[in-house]
Amino acid sequence: MGRLVVVGSLNMDLVVRVPRLPAPGETILGGQPRHVGGGKGANQALTCARLGAEVTMLGSVGRDENGERLLAGLQAAGVDVSAVQRLAGETTGLAIIAVDDRGANNIIVSPGANLATSPEYVDLQRRRFAEADAVLAQLEIPLETVTRAAGLAKSLGKLMVLDPAPAAPLPDALYALVDLIKPNEIELAHLTGLPTRTLAEAETAARRLLARGAGRVLATLGAQGALLVEPAGTLHVPARQDVQVRDTTAAGDSFTAAAVRLLLDGHSLAEAARFAVAVAGVVVSRPGAQSSIPDAAEVAALMPPRPA
Ligand code: RIB
Repeated sequence: MGRLVVVGSLNMDLVVRVPRLPAPGETILGGQPRHVGGGKGANQALTCARLGAEVTMLGSVGRDENGERLLAGLQAAGVDVSAVQRLAGETTGLAIIAVDDRGANNIIVSPGANLATSPEYVDLQRRRFAEADAVLAQLEIPLETVTRAAGLAKSLGKLMVLDPAPAAPLPDALYALVDLIKPNEIELAHLTGLPTRTLAEAETAARRLLARGAGRVLATLGAQGALLVEPAGTLHVPARQDVQVRDTTAAGDSFTAAAVRLLLDGHSLAEAARFAVAVAGVVVSRPGAQSSIPDAAEVAALMPPRPA
């Protein structure tokens, strides 16, 4: 069992199913609204905990009903939320999500309290970082906070994993602090300015991130699966073809978390990538973000034997 600190966002997701995603300026009718726990940080923390890791969530919510519900959901999954800030005068992050009949989505995030997750708050969490084996961050909190967290993780000799979502330009100083970066194909294109439609294009773009200082790149490529790019070689893991896609929300989050879960157990990155593809295949077959995430018992069959 490994110990993980997740520094990231907590959002309440307001989800509406639509027959198709609206064009700019268009109004369409959708189904019943549903509130589902979300936020890339919280989704990844919850997935790792459901898969058996010991997880501490660091981040911020408002002192409101959505914040309470999110924390209760994480706690029920076994995540330690005792260090999450509950801030008076801030509103818990909210994501407005439309999901179409093919499972594709549009997401608008109103970050609210997530933006109050400051570098100074990270400094106060040094003990929690020191006790962890790995630190995982995303980009729904301020970039300077992510950089501070990565610097602290690195100075303490921890594995630092970055899920660069949503995409934002990153300084080279941050790449140099990251052992593993996990962009999807759109983020990889944003980060590099290069096309990522084919496997060859994605590999070229991923190698650009290695050149900027990232340790290794594990990119998700939608229906093409995942691509692990290391200085010494490249591995393509195809996506499962037997999956009926209902909702791709949190597919990337569950992928990242599943990969980290295996790394915490001492598995190779290649095994982690295969496992992550399998877990994401389960998540896209179910509706919602945290509501779609399987538990350890469900994915036991997908899990490779623990390394000796
Ligand atoms: O990755 C999916 C998540 O993105 C949603 O849960 C939403 O809250 C946004 O953070």
